[in-house]
Amino acid sequence: MSLIEVKDLEKYYNRGKGSEFHALHGISFEIEAGETAALMGVSGSGKTTLLNILGFMDSFDEGTYRFDGEDVSAFGERALAAHRNRSIGFVMQSFGLILSQTVYENVSLPLLLNGDIGFGEIKQRCADLIGEVGLKEKLHSRTDELSGGQQQRVAIARAMANGPKLLIADEPTGALDSTTAGEIVDLFLKLNRERGTTVLIATHDERVAEACGRVMRIEDGRIVSDRRL
Ligand SMILES: Nc1ncnc2c1ncn2[C@@H]1O[C@H](COP(=O)(O)OP(=O)(O)OP(=O)(O)O)[C@@H](O)[C@H]1O
Ligand SMILES: [Mg+2]
Repeated sequence: MSLIEVKDLEKYYNRGKGSEFHALHGISFEIEAGETAALMGVSGSGKTTLLNILGFMDSFDEGTYRFDGEDVSAFGERALAAHRNRSIGFVMQSFGLILSQTVYENVSLPLLLNGDIGFGEIKQRCADLIGEVGLKEKLHSRTDELSGGQQQRVAIARAMANGPKLLIADEPTGALDSTTAGEIVDLFLKLNRERGTTVLIATHDERVAEACGRVMRIEDGRIVSDRRL
């Protein structure tokens, strides 16, 4: 079954104003549950714009987006917020961590916001996840004392905290050396394999894209190719 189904999606920034910019043109594709896919394109091509829409972080202007069989346009604010917290794990281009807080505090935040999970389980889940991303010894370290690759792992653990169906990562290896980048990609693939999480990664790195098994290319807001390797 398709986890994501977008059809004829159009996105404008500042619609109707003098500074209007038509960022996405007729975007249509499906991503199956359990798939790993890469989104490639030069700077400014529309990757973050598209990921933000798929992750319920931004709206679109025309077309349809069905997530897990449901029409996203019909969601109210409450449903959108619940999906942001539980269905989607978002690893942002700039990590988006609270640097003055510890690894544990960052990873536990989405669980505290969830509201349905008790404190004991939050502690256990965070410890498990932080171990899974290889940072067991850093559990109570401040996040600004970690390396870039380690911070990226914290961002991934936080994105996985509520067991999302879809993990979105916006250039997760852009700031890393190639060895560390490889380890981060392996981590995404492991989460996909072991938890069945669907993974969508925006990247400039051909090796990252190849590891994903499916590559969608975007140019000037249009999908120009989409192939499974
Ligand atoms: N808030 C905004 N208002 C107006 N235009 C925007 C806004 N955000 C992005 N854009 C424009 O939309 C286009 C796509 O931007 P986007 O951030 O999606 O690119 P990207 O592919 O993620 O690039 P990069 O690889 O540099 O992150 C760019 O031309 C950008 O200037
Ligand atoms: Mg971007």
